[in-house]
Amino acid sequence: MSRVFNKILAFFNLQSGSFVRAIMQPMRFDIFTLFPEVFQPYLQTSILERAQQKGLIEVHLHNIRDYTTDKHHITDDEPYGGGGGMVMKPEPIFAAVESVLGSPPACPVVLLTPQGRTFNHRIAQEYAQLPALALICGRYEGVDERVRKHLVTDELSIGDYVLSGGELPALVVLDAVSRFLPGVLGDPDGATDDSYALGLLEYPHYTRPAEFRGWRVPEVLLSGDHGRIARWRREQALLRTWQRRPDLLEKATLTGEDQAFLERLRSAQENLFQGDNDEV
Ligand code: ADE
Repeated sequence: MSRVFNKILAFFNLQSGSFVRAIMQPMRFDIFTLFPEVFQPYLQTSILERAQQKGLIEVHLHNIRDYTTDKHHITDDEPYGGGGGMVMKPEPIFAAVESVLGSPPACPVVLLTPQGRTFNHRIAQEYAQLPALALICGRYEGVDERVRKHLVTDELSIGDYVLSGGELPALVVLDAVSRFLPGVLGDPDGATDDSYALGLLEYPHYTRPAEFRGWRVPEVLLSGDHGRIARWRREQALLRTWQRRPDLLEKATLTGEDQAFLERLRSAQENLFQGDNDEV
């Protein structure tokens, strides 16, 4: 009863075009981990908590250890061929995933691993189209290769560094995917307004007070002139992207005015270098 009521509420929260998700089932996430307890605090906070309450997502946590069959509930073992570290055994992982999702599993099964393709905005958006997604959190030195070869359909990394396990990466994926589901963000344009969606980094944000420790908010933001503010924000976004992530500019959709602004930045930079050379 309350699920139906929540869905009606969520429906009216949405803009047109978003109604499909509202009348459909929530997106279902199944997370397979040795440490389900680490997920709870984040899932019970802010946007993800509200998304669950509104019936927009469902998160099911499964402890891989519950699917062991031996007396000591062992989930890892030494690597064949020797070497350091432990490897996660295949049987409990297969048993966990197949008993929850069937064989073969009814949805994509993602392994979080530093060896996966790098997760990004586009992958999050693609996954948000699915009714369900399973995430397996690796630990120790890795998981038995047969899990990768015969169970997993995709491998994702959240960046070129090694964490102690796939739990934080799974939360990252869950959060980023959920933000694309209609109704999850208060602002219906939220995820599509995010910086990567627009192809540019975001402009700087300020709030009250207008002056803090002598640092003033840029005057244009206090001017009430919406045209000037919009132009300033666009130019700041272009400047920031040009300085920090010039690679993004190659794919961004730019107006003639944007191009002209970037041209001015480039020639200002060239003049600066020219000045340096003159001095030498
Ligand atoms: N497990 C350990 N490190 C990871 C990373 N960077 N991305 C995904 N899973 C991981």
